[in-house]
Amino acid sequence: MENEIKRLEEEFQKDFQEASFPKELEALKIKYLGRKSTFTQLFSQIPTLPPKERGAWGKRLNAFKQKITSSLGSAKTQVESKEESIDLTPPSIFPEFGSRHILSIVGEKICSIFEKLGFVTIEGKEIEEEWYNFEALNIPLEHPSREAFDTFYLDLPEKNKGKYLLRSHTSPSQIRVMQGAKPPLAVISPGRVYRPDEVDATHSFMFHQIEGFVVDEDINFAHLKGVLLHFAREFFSDKVELRLRPHFFPFTEPSAEVDISCFICKTGGKKLSEGQKCSVCKGKGWLEILGCGMIHPKVLRACGIDSKKYKGFAFGMGVERIAMLKYGIDDIRLFYENDARFLEQFSL
Ligand code: PHE
Repeated sequence: MENEIKRLEEEFQKDFQEASFPKELEALKIKYLGRKSTFTQLFSQIPTLPPKERGAWGKRLNAFKQKITSSLGSAKTQVESKEESIDLTPPSIFPEFGSRHILSIVGEKICSIFEKLGFVTIEGKEIEEEWYNFEALNIPLEHPSREAFDTFYLDLPEKNKGKYLLRSHTSPSQIRVMQGAKPPLAVISPGRVYRPDEVDATHSFMFHQIEGFVVDEDINFAHLKGVLLHFAREFFSDKVELRLRPHFFPFTEPSAEVDISCFICKTGGKKLSEGQKCSVCKGKGWLEILGCGMIHPKVLRACGIDSKKYKGFAFGMGVERIAMLKYGIDDIRLFYENDARFLEQFSL
């Protein structure tokens, strides 16, 4: 009998450690002290024992019962007081959902507008050879315009010194495609570009560009303008107008910078009160969105394309700039700081 009670005590200890809810404690009481329990059976055997032993066994069994009742009792008061201390009134904690980054959303939206016109999206190389970033694009070594494309060169052993760089624009994608494929071509090429600029509200050493170009027979400036007007109306507002200002790029001739009429104050419908300046265009009425031009014949020739037979146009835009204009964001650093309060506003 003593062995049996010891075994029961051990078993109870195990069960007891695992029980934490009032219901589980109640079940233990039934298991160990209930009508069908081993304890009750042992108790009922007392009258069958020799009279001398009965008193000792009675005491032993009562001690067992006492131990179990008090363990369960104190556990129960503990559990109940914990239950009372749970405050059910605070708002629930919801899991945080991630969202796509605004630059991904804007970049893909821009590409999809051109894809619907038949453009094919390709990715160029972020680590680029100097020839693709400069020479092939008609930017010779001594040309002053290289300064405008100030560049991060890769620090490599003597043999390859000055050969590889982080591309300073997406225009080398033009060269890579034109070298490998025959016209007609209509290509869009998004990606990161790098320039050793001081970081401030409008500059970053890394940002994103989208390059687009078309090469075919009989391509002219009107095609370029039509494609860009379509893009601007799809992306900003169907009422915007374009303004092309003469500009210079070594790889296009003629070249232009393109403005859209301000979609906030000029064509977008927001009426400003007397003397109030539009915060997006600063009262100018126009917003610069990209650079473009007719691909320079030298560039076509550098890629082995017959510049007498084929013509092309190209354009390049900054994704951050476009996103800032579209959403009225005034500091480029917001894109890279990963502050969820900023990012979650664009979870489209
Ligand atoms: N590569 C130019 C820049 O980074 C943009 C551009 C692309 C201009 C294609 C004309 C044609 O500023």
